[in-house]
Amino acid sequence: MREEFLVFGSPHIEQAEIDEVVDTLRSGWIGTGPKVRRFEDAFRLYKGCGHALAVSSCTAALHLAMIVVGVQEGDEVILPTLTWTATANAVIKAGGRPVFADCQRESMNVDPRDIERKLSPRTKAIIPVHFAGRSCDMDAIGEIAAERNISIVEDCAHAIETEYHGKKAGMMGALGCFSFYATKNVITGEGGMLVTEDGSYAEKSRLLAMQGLSQGAWNRFSSKGNPRAQVISCGYKYNMTDIQASLGIHQLARVETNALTRKRIWEMYDDGFKGLPVFTPSPEEPDTRHARHLYTLLLDIDRLSITRDRFVNSMKEKNIGVGIHYIPLHLHPFYQGRYGYKRGDFPVAEWISERTASVPFSSKLTDRDVADVLEAATDVLSRSARKTNRKARAVFSRAGSQSRRKD
Ligand SMILES: Cc1ncc(COP(=O)(O)O)c(C=O)c1O
Repeated sequence: MREEFLVFGSPHIEQAEIDEVVDTLRSGWIGTGPKVRRFEDAFRLYKGCGHALAVSSCTAALHLAMIVVGVQEGDEVILPTLTWTATANAVIKAGGRPVFADCQRESMNVDPRDIERKLSPRTKAIIPVHFAGRSCDMDAIGEIAAERNISIVEDCAHAIETEYHGKKAGMMGALGCFSFYATKNVITGEGGMLVTEDGSYAEKSRLLAMQGLSQGAWNRFSSKGNPRAQVISCGYKYNMTDIQASLGIHQLARVETNALTRKRIWEMYDDGFKGLPVFTPSPEEPDTRHARHLYTLLLDIDRLSITRDRFVNSMKEKNIGVGIHYIPLHLHPFYQGRYGYKRGDFPVAEWISERTASVPFSSKLTDRDVADVLEAATDVLSRSARKTNRKARAVFSRAGSQSRRKD
């Protein structure tokens, strides 16, 4: 058994980030300033988009996006139930009502047919979440939105490198929201980015992210700045700092190199989990790019004597951290209490939720780490596999070696 606990999403930080942070600390300016601007420019170039605004989190980006597309009291916004709470809370904080939709089993992404079923005259926006880094079916979602003049705001928390039919994630709707949280493919500790092609959305978001002030702090306090600023609207304190951007600049510069490492580890997992009672992630769809943010197994619990939670605990006992993505939002007390959701409302998300387990995944993992994960999982899963006759075992072994797409 490994001696040190392996966290499921360990940040991959190198000397360049450390040197840049130290340089910032020594520079005399650690707030929002020239390094944030550098990071925004680099992200804008990476995406090839018109505007990029660095903010304190993806949650902040989603909240700003909801405000600038005009979500107001009584408006509805459709989003998958299988997501992180931030996606729904951004809607609520803007005054809207989150309306959940079920997902597809193979892609684990929101099902466009269920989005259609959830439309109403009050639907103002749709938030597709590119789960684990796999693009949603943006052709179908785009068609639904365009016919009814509904805004699309992409939740790209998992999707920095994601592409779909020649388009980059974040650029297939009105605005795209990215996360640089500690476990993401690019990290700044906490942080996010809002991208858009629309100049007025960008301007309004920039103003709201900095207390609604006519000028940010760097423009007020730098040698060329003017300390007088006017409050133009009641905004938020959502700005990113130069300390965070110092990490982001170098993280983004290595995102493509890290993607190669992620692909290699992904393939090691695909190979290593073959024959075990699990379903591995579906292959990349043609003409798309998967960001490979999470390696999410679905346990074949019908062939196991343990639950998903027992699997997670057994892995932990072996010093391997495992994430759960996600307990669907409609199963949480808050959304049930406020909106009346209940178990049974979204059968596919519930099916996934009972089986989902994300094993450690990061470009920082060594071959030894990957081997430790596979060794621990093989031990737990094979000891918990239900006894089957020879014929059933053959079927089981074929199913276990298949991805969910073929299931
Ligand atoms: C799908 C999804 N959306 C939004 C967020 C919020 O990101 P942040 O923590 O940067 O606010 C997360 C964070 O993990 C996420 O996974």
